[in-house]
Parts: sequence; C-alpha cells; structure tokens
Amino acid sequence: MCGIIGISSHKSVSNSIINSLKKLEYRGYDSAGIATLADGLINEVKSEGRVENLENNFDLKNLSGNIGIGHVRWATHGVPNSVNAHPHSSENVSVVHNGIIENSTLLKKYLLGKGHKFKSQTDTEVIVHLITENLKSSELQEAITKTLKQLHGSFALGIIFKDMPDLIIGARRGSPLAVGYGPNENYLGSDSYALKSMTNKITYLEDGEFCFIKKDQVNFFNEDGIKINKKVLELSSDQQNYDKGDFKHFMAKEIEEQPQTLKTGIKEYVDNINNDINIYNFPWKIDEIKSIMLIGCGTAYHSCLMAKYWFEELTTLDVNIDIASEFRYRKNRFKNDTLYIFVSQSGETADTYAALDLCNKNNMKTCAVVNVIESSIARDSNFVLPIHCGPEIGVASTKAFLGQILVLYIMSLKLSSLRKEIKDKDYQEKIKDLKNLPKLIEQTLLLDNDIQAISSTFNEAKGSMFLGRGFSFPIALEGALKLKELSYVHAEGYPAGEMKHGPLALIEEGMPVVVLAPRDNYYKKTISNMQEVVARGAKVLLITNKSKDEIVSENIWEKIEVETTNDDLLPFLLTIPLQKLAYYSALKKGYDIDKPRNLAKSVTVE
Ligand code: F6R
Repeated sequence: MCGIIGISSHKSVSNSIINSLKKLEYRGYDSAGIATLADGLINEVKSEGRVENLENNFDLKNLSGNIGIGHVRWATHGVPNSVNAHPHSSENVSVVHNGIIENSTLLKKYLLGKGHKFKSQTDTEVIVHLITENLKSSELQEAITKTLKQLHGSFALGIIFKDMPDLIIGARRGSPLAVGYGPNENYLGSDSYALKSMTNKITYLEDGEFCFIKKDQVNFFNEDGIKINKKVLELSSDQQNYDKGDFKHFMAKEIEEQPQTLKTGIKEYVDNINNDINIYNFPWKIDEIKSIMLIGCGTAYHSCLMAKYWFEELTTLDVNIDIASEFRYRKNRFKNDTLYIFVSQSGETADTYAALDLCNKNNMKTCAVVNVIESSIARDSNFVLPIHCGPEIGVASTKAFLGQILVLYIMSLKLSSLRKEIKDKDYQEKIKDLKNLPKLIEQTLLLDNDIQAISSTFNEAKGSMFLGRGFSFPIALEGALKLKELSYVHAEGYPAGEMKHGPLALIEEGMPVVVLAPRDNYYKKTISNMQEVVARGAKVLLITNKSKDEIVSENIWEKIEVETTNDDLLPFLLTIPLQKLAYYSALKKGYDIDKPRNLAKSVTVE
C-alpha cells in the first residue's frame, strides 16, 4: 500500500505532486507528505491524515522547487502521525517508500553504531541513513546498488539528493512502480493512474530494477547497476471514469455502473452472431488442462469460490481454490495439467503476485483475471482475461466483483462446451440468459429504497450473519465482508447448513440475519436452516428471487425479491442488495465510504 510520486521538471512541482497524491489516496490515507529541493536544501512538509490536511496545514504555494517526491501512507511500522509520515530525510537524502523493510531492526542497530540519529518509528528511515552512509565511501550509482542489496523485504522507492538538483532515483522490488514521460519533465509513480493526468507514456520497472530520472532523460539499471533498455508503453485514456459525476461516492457510482460494465464484459467475450463465447488466443490445448486452481484475496477470493461452484457444475474438471497468502507458503504439489488462475482487481496485490511468481518459477500454466491490464499480475501471467470494468476507485470492491465472476462464469461455460460436457442447446440457452443479465441487474438496482430502509437495523446491532448454501454461499461471504469493511459492524458469512455446528450459539433475540434463499436446488434446505435461526429470535432478512410460489415460512422480519433468471446467474442478482445494504449502513453512520478505516485499495504489502 502507500502511494509514491516523484517529478523532475523545468517548473515548480508542488502543485502537480499534490494532485497526484490525491489520486493515490486510494492506496493509503493516514498521513501524507512532500519533499522538494530548492536552493540546495531539502524542504519537507508532512501531516497526519489526508492530503487535504497537508494543504490546510501548509502554504504549499511557497513550497518551491522543480524537483520533488510525495507520499500517502498506509501505516505498517509506527503509528500514523506526522513524524512517521514520509518523506524521511537526512540533511542530504530524502526518501519515500512503499513496502516493508524486513531487516530494518538489524540495519538500524548497525546505523546507530555509525552515529546516525533516527526521528521516526518507521522501517523506511533506515533507507535514508543507509544511503547516506554508503555515499561516504561510494559513488552514487554504486551506493544505490549496494543499498538496495542490503535491504530485505519489499519496496518501491523515490529518492532525491541535496547535491543532485534534478535527479530522482526510483527503485522497485515487490511493490509496483512506473516511470512517466512528459514535455520537459519526467515522473515516477506507484501506478499509471497517478500519472495519467500528466502523461500516457509509461514504463514499468521490474523487480530489482532502478532508474535515474531527470527532467530531460531517464536511465534504467538492473540490480547489478548495469544499464538496460526498457519499452515505453502508450496507455489508453479513460479519464472520465475517474470522476464521481453526480454521485456522492465512487462506491455508489460503481454499484450503479454494473449493468454497463457487465454489458461491456459480455460484449468482449460473447459473439452475438454465432451465440458463442470467444476466448481469443487461449494458449493451451483443451485436453492439456485436467484441473484448475483459483487464487485470490478478499473479495477476489470470494470470486474464486463462486467459480469453483460453476466449474464443478458445468465441467468434470477438478477445481481447487486458495487464499493467496496461504498458497504462497504451503507445500504445493505443482501439476503440469493444472491451470492456475489468479484473480485480482488491481493486479498488484502482493500475496497474489507472490503466488503467481511461485507458479511461474515452477513453469506452471498461469492465467490472470484482472481489471488493471497494465498491472504486474497481468504482465507476468501467461494469459490474461481482463474484466473490462474501468477504474474502480472505492476501496470496497463492487463492480470488479461482478466483473470477476462474469469472466469466470464465461470461462466455465466455454470450457464445458469445449470439453463437450454441456449440451449445445443448454449452452445456447445459458448464453442467451447471460446477455439478458445486465437488464436484470438494472431492475434489481431499483430496490434501492427498500434496502435503505432496512439498513439501520444492521447498524444498531452488535453483529449480524449472512447465510447461504451452494451458489449463494460465496455471496453470503461477500455480503458480510462488505458490511464489516464499510460500516464496521461485525458480520459473519456462513454456509446455512453449518450453523448448527457452532455459530447458532451466537443467535439471540433481535440479531439481524441475512438469508440468501433463491429458488434454486438448495431453496428448501436453506429455508429449513432459516427456521432454525428464526426460532432462536433472529430478525431475518430473506433475499430471494421473484416467483409465483409463496414462501412457506412465517416470522420473517423483511423480504427482498430480486429478478429471476437461471440458477447459475442468480448470484449476480443477490449481490446487488448486499452491496447496497453495506453502502447505506455506512452512509447512515457518516463513515468514509470510499476510504474505510485501516484499508487500502491496492494491498502491495504482505
Ligand atoms: C474488499 C476488497 C478486498 C480486495 C482484496 C484483493 O472489498 O476490495 O478484499 O478484494 O484486497 O484485491 P485485488 O482484487 O486488487 O487483488
């Protein structure tokens, strides 16, 4: 997490740094800071909280300098305050850092022994002093190569020097970093999004690489300090997507955009004329794949779980799933006939990337399902299936979740058809239903008022539960995650049939419980489980789909009916009321919906 920016220009940079930092706030927002170089001095300003505080606390117009670095922080070492905020500077060197230095304690001991004085509790400050120390005995490039080798852990760095009036050094290991090219100025940024208002010409650093950025030239080096050439990419411009428009929050906008983002996704993968699915350039023969392993974190992991149900329903492939932070450290039995699928909105999540890296090192078949196609996970996978959602800014994932499950559903259908496991008639029918899905999502979004009215009960409760079986179970997990991350109310997702094995003890009079019971194969079983919680005093919000048949259950507190479609697609519709429930709960509490406490959009630390 944390966002970094650097600009070397022919004109004053503080304004552009502030603007870029605002774009990077999705990566961290507990403190912010800038350092510029002017008249041979490093000037540093830092504040706790948002970039806005930095603007309010300092007269940034007077912060001169044609070169500078900036940072938004998501605390790892040391509490979020202005002392621990980046940049960290000695008299000669100033550093911004995203990542974690794992050997900082040892390095600090060594540097204290050399007489260096530390001001903060951060791991980053050791980098400042280590460079300062190495510069005593080596030329700049050698000192940097040496310093980077001494650091263990992950980093993206931006560094400026008192005595180098137009130089920024960028370095990457584990955490993403991009270089941008502008007219008479060049940039360094955690991602292309931060740089997009200034340039669409980007180069991504790979692990181990570092670069020297001046206003009129950029040079790249490998980890041994040897000069290398790198490609410049031209990015597409979809700037309008970064605007909230008339919406109060990005999350509200992103929820409402879902009919459109699904339409785009379907258009990319479904051939309307032949009513077939196209997955272009799939690099493997279909009989080379005997099993599938899906890996992700958080909401993306829930997408993996959802996909497992679909793959198992539609194909006879063996399907396993794992949380990336577990997968990367387990003793894995890698198999050549397994397709490893990495699901990630940002494409930069450190644990997911590490899991991918492990698979690549073992020469496995790797496929990325991502939103950001320029991301590290996309670039380093053998094959990429983009979800085509456009930028997702709200920290809580909404449209990316539906985008991920859309692509995974499409893939399960296609593999089923290629493996001749689905009848052609059923395949055609399911594609037809899929094309109708955006319209049904649009209608389901109209349930807005009903959900708004219900949401305060969840806020007032000590905790809540989300229950579902089969296809609805991953959605129950996702609904609980959304509620807890946005409204800070304890929420648990459970398979409805598992309640009696322990969690039922939590049910008490008046506890809100969401039961997802669409009229699918699991309907009757879920309704029985619902009775068990009703009997113990729970306030049940039943979410089902429209049907002519009456619900055979009494004492339900509230009922919400989504539109109707085939069983496979009901999870898409059930997700909508849960996203809205979380949104309105947080709205009523006045919480920061797009930036919930302690969280960041792109989790680039372990
Ligand atoms: C929850 C949420 C997170 C992310 C997780 C993985 O709303 O957004 O749980 O899903 O941090 O992020 P990506 O998808 O970028 O790998």
